[in-house]
This record gives sequence, structure tokens and C-alpha cells, in this order.
Amino acid sequence: MNILSIESSCDETAAAIISGNPFSKEAHPEILSNVVVSQIDIFKAYGGVIPEVAARSHLEAILPVIHQAFKEANFTSTDKSGNPKDDWDKIDAIAVTHTPGLLGSLLIGTLTARTLAILHNKPLYAVHHLKSHIYSNWLGNERVPVFPILALVISGGHTQIIRMTEHNHFEIIGTTYDDAVGECFDKVAKILGLPYPGGPSIAKAAKNGDPKKYHLPHPQIKDLDFSFSGLKTAVLRAVQKEVGVPISYPSHQLKDLLSEQQVADFAASFEQTACEILLEKLEKALEKYPDTRSIVFAGGVSANNRLRKKCLGLLATTGSPRQRERTIGSPPVTTGRTTGARGANNLNIFFPEPCFSGDNAAMVGAAAFYEIASGVQPTDPLSLNILPRSTIK
Ligand code: KG4
Ligand code: ZN
Repeated sequence: MNILSIESSCDETAAAIISGNPFSKEAHPEILSNVVVSQIDIFKAYGGVIPEVAARSHLEAILPVIHQAFKEANFTSTDKSGNPKDDWDKIDAIAVTHTPGLLGSLLIGTLTARTLAILHNKPLYAVHHLKSHIYSNWLGNERVPVFPILALVISGGHTQIIRMTEHNHFEIIGTTYDDAVGECFDKVAKILGLPYPGGPSIAKAAKNGDPKKYHLPHPQIKDLDFSFSGLKTAVLRAVQKEVGVPISYPSHQLKDLLSEQQVADFAASFEQTACEILLEKLEKALEKYPDTRSIVFAGGVSANNRLRKKCLGLLATTGSPRQRERTIGSPPVTTGRTTGARGANNLNIFFPEPCFSGDNAAMVGAAAFYEIASGVQPTDPLSLNILPRSTIK
């Protein structure tokens, strides 16, 4: 089965064609093409996404991006006049992100997918964006996660720990009370005068910084829940104190008072603290669910190298000496655990390959693939709606 998938929930316009037999137990989705056009360069000038501009950019990019996905998959034939055309006969289904995300952005992808499904008479699958991020871990890997799974979903809009005991079954066991961790990276970057998107620019600046230079608090949030707005304010107050201005001082002017080294030290201290908070909760979740066989990281923040390294370090101190790093991009580690609260099972850690950690359409196709495998029926292309906010189900 070949699935054309479309993603446009935020500021990336993406289309992919993935292939595989969802009804075969052993089969995993194979990527035939994966095209992503990012609007990051547009929004660098503004310091963040402007929803109306994002929607307009999606509108301009979506059809060329889909054509390119056909081309890269070699799914083109020639029409009667000898001109190349997309070979729709080779497509068996269409999948699209319809929730959650920016309203205008979601609309462009969803309306395009609905129109194409009606025009070419293809079944249409409506996919939840967080499902897609989770299923990015099933892409490009020679091994796939084993159930039960704990998924740490860390993106610009979400911070959740999700337990999966089988495909397409999601139980949220922890969530943020306020900001998402990616949002916190973006807001702290603004305070430090670093460019959008904040995650990669904080990671870059942090390389030259001392992660112990500034002490930032870990919020005391119960159970497996998170809170990140306090951490952002803690950075703001620490910067104001460091440069000797009152708390009423405008945050967007602080960057002019910071030296390059101070920015690097704040970036490193913040990145370190954010990673510690995430991994503390993950450890807690592992204690609560000792039957966990795999941990999967999902969402843009999973690209963070400090997080990846710290996760390995955490396992190195608590896991068995048989821990080994994988040489391909991901998943980076398999660790054998034989003792402790985590039970006797081997624990596998998966990070999406860096090219799949941000928004892309291959992961949408992978999520649809496992939905189809789980018996999910296609949706009605005439009535599919978008939902800017919704919970993974
Ligand atoms: O998953 P994603 O591409 O879009 C959403 O669904 O939100 O995540 C975007 C978020 C942004 O907040 C961005 O700053 C963050 O992921 N991010 C990172 C890194 N790369 C992207 N955060 C930390 N370290 C990174 N290397
Ligand atoms: Zn995303």
C-alpha cells in the first residue's frame, strides 16, 4: 500500500509517500519520498510564527511540495501530450494532519487532502499530530520499539508522557500545567536575544557555556506532570539580577546588556535544567511502570543533543554495563536492565532520526500505516474538520 501523507500544522509544509503492507505483522513503513519546506527563514525576522503568514505560505507551497513528493518517489508518468504528471494510480490512500495546530495552517493541508481524496477517489485518514511525532520512531530504523512503551512527547505545543500498550492506543500519564518545553526554549531564547526557533539556537549557544553557572529551580509538580512557565520566569529574573536591573525592566531589552559569554552560560544552564526536569519525570514514570520495554522520544525538542547524551548518561549510571550506542542516527541506545524497579526486561531507548524529529509528513504516513493496521476506518472527505486543540486518543 502506498500512502500520500500531508503535514501543515504549524510552519512546515510537507508531503511524503510511504509504502508497506499494514496487514503484515512484520512490515514497517518504508519512505519513498519525504519533502519538507520550512517557513523558518520567514519567521526568523519576526521572532516567531505569525499564523496568517504561515497559512498563506502553506497555500503557496502545498501543491509544489506534493508534486515533488510524487517526483522523488518516481511516481510520475506522462500524459497524452508527453508532459509529466503525478501517477495517482499508484496511491492507495491519503493521510493528513487535521489536529492539533494553527487553525489556518491545518486548514490548508486538510482542505488539500480532502479535495485530492474526492478528486482521485482515495480513502482519507485524518491523523493526530502527536501520534505522528510518536510514530517518527518507526521510521528509518532497523529495529522498532517494543510494547509497553513510554513516549516522552516534547514539542513546541506539548509536553506529555504517554503510555502505549499496543499500536494506536495512547494513555496520557503526565502533562504540562502551562507552557510546553519547546515553547519554554523559544521564550528563553527571546530573553537571551537568540534567533527563532529557540531550541536549536539555545543548543548552539549552550555549547560554549557553563551549565552550572546559574542555578535554576526544578518545579515541584506532583506525579508525572510538568510546569515550564516558572522556569522561563526564573531565567528572566536571573538575567535581570545578573545585569543589575529591576524586575520591571523590559525583557526584550535585556539582550543588549548581556555579554556573549553570559548568553552562553544562561543557555547552557537553562538547557541543562530543562533536560534534568524531563528526565526526572521519565525516571519516575519508569518506576511507576516497571513493565516498560521501550522509551520513545518524540517532537522537536527530541533533537536536542544534551538531552540525548544525558539520557544515555542516566542509563549508564542506572543501567547494565551491556549498554551500547547504536551507530545509525537512531535509536541511539539499547540497554539491558536486569535489576531494580524497572524489572527484568531489556529497555530500549529510541530517538527519532534528527530529520524526523521536527515536523514532516513521513511520520504522518507512518501513523496512518499503524492506524490502518489497527483497523481504523477512513474518514469522510466531505465532512472532515480541523481541530486546533485536541487530546491524543
Ligand atoms: O515538533 P515541532 O517541530 O513542532 C511542534 O509540533 O510544536 O517542535 C518545535 C519545537 C520548537 O519549540 C523548537 O524550539 C524545539 O522544538 N526544538 C528544539 C530543538 N530543535 C527544535 N528544542 C531543543 N533543542 C533542539 N535542538
Ligand atoms: Zn510537531
